[in-house]
Amino acid sequence: LSILRRVGRQAEGAGLRAYVVGGCVRDLILKRKVLDLDVVIEGDAIVVARKFSSDRAGTLTVYPQFGTATVLLPDGRAVDFASARRESYLHPGALPVVVKGNIKEDLFRRDFTINAMAVAINPKHFGSLLDYYGGFDDLKSQRIRVLHGQSFVDDPTRILRAVRFEERFRFRMEPATLRLLRESLKRKAPATVKPQRYFEEFKKNLKEDRAPENLRRLSRLKALDFLEPSFKLEQRHRRLLREAPQTLLWADKHLIDWPSQNAWLVCLMIIFDGIAPARVARVLEKFAVANTDRKKIIGSLSCGNILVKLALSRREAFKAMRPLSVEEILFLRAKTLNVSARMRIQEHLLEWRHLKLQINGDDLKRLGIPSGKNYKIILDEVLYALVEGCCSSKSDQLARARDLCQQHQ
Ligand code: CTP
Repeated sequence: LSILRRVGRQAEGAGLRAYVVGGCVRDLILKRKVLDLDVVIEGDAIVVARKFSSDRAGTLTVYPQFGTATVLLPDGRAVDFASARRESYLHPGALPVVVKGNIKEDLFRRDFTINAMAVAINPKHFGSLLDYYGGFDDLKSQRIRVLHGQSFVDDPTRILRAVRFEERFRFRMEPATLRLLRESLKRKAPATVKPQRYFEEFKKNLKEDRAPENLRRLSRLKALDFLEPSFKLEQRHRRLLREAPQTLLWADKHLIDWPSQNAWLVCLMIIFDGIAPARVARVLEKFAVANTDRKKIIGSLSCGNILVKLALSRREAFKAMRPLSVEEILFLRAKTLNVSARMRIQEHLLEWRHLKLQINGDDLKRLGIPSGKNYKIILDEVLYALVEGCCSSKSDQLARARDLCQQHQ
């Protein structure tokens, strides 16, 4: 509130009208946590952003070509400023051509009525809701509704957004919106958007708490075939998606070093389960998925083979999991219902992967062991012994290395 009051006063000082808009108004009404604020100014937003930033010791980034700016506050919160604008789409799926407009026009270009409300923040009008398109009623009735019939054609990423908001708030699209969405899918609207942009939006669905529900809904709507023609979830994917939330919750709770934003990768591994690596590689290539993520996803396609090894000794289980990323191992955890395999996975994630030897190559040299590739073999063997619960002290590790050296000579 204090941020908004201040921005409102500064806009007033510049003779401009200011509003907080979009998702933050929706979340305010729903009494959900509001993280970032979106402010729209009727007039030059950059002028107000500059004032606000210098006043609050923020970091200002200006995008003059879009008439927008972001102020990052010292406490990590961000306020986005944009000049009210009108949009037209030269062709479906393209980024829009933008010209200055008023707040009503600015709200009309938005995706859904629930995201098309504004609250005035100039001192005299502070707190008045601007709801030209029935967003408040739709919020109360838990409805997702587009503002006009072209919405999904203009911007097909809204197909994914509609499902995201449905699942996040447990709302439903009203019938006309659902019909428009289905029509746009039939006409292959997603193919008009740059694949990378569409995939970025899809990642947001996978990052939601209810990612499995998002995927099931998208599959029922036949909205997953942007990945590959006639792509849909099979029985095995549905089973894995039922397991995923519990596994991801476990990871959130126990793996302090694992960023839970990476949960989307585990979801992607699940929906590619059982698909030929060459096909998956083609999909990842098409959407320009980053190399590090690509490697993990391709790795997950064959990591089911190691499940049998998890039932063997701790050493064998560790050797099998050692080269895998945390995401691949979480995928395995969702894949197996075997209790002892799950125990091994948990031991690996919580303990084994953090084990460090107290000796290194220099110690082997000091023992008089001739340097060469044997060093790696010896150090690995000592590490396996550590996993098995032996050799925890440095002297035990040195003694084991000496024994191993004699065996290798
Ligand atoms: N918007 C839109 N069409 C899009 C993307 C965004 O109309 N394809 C508008 C909506 O008004 C939306 C606002 O821009 O509320 C901000 O977009 P974004 O931050 O992506 O969405 P939020 O609604 O804030 O949702 P989230 O809570 O997921 O950030």
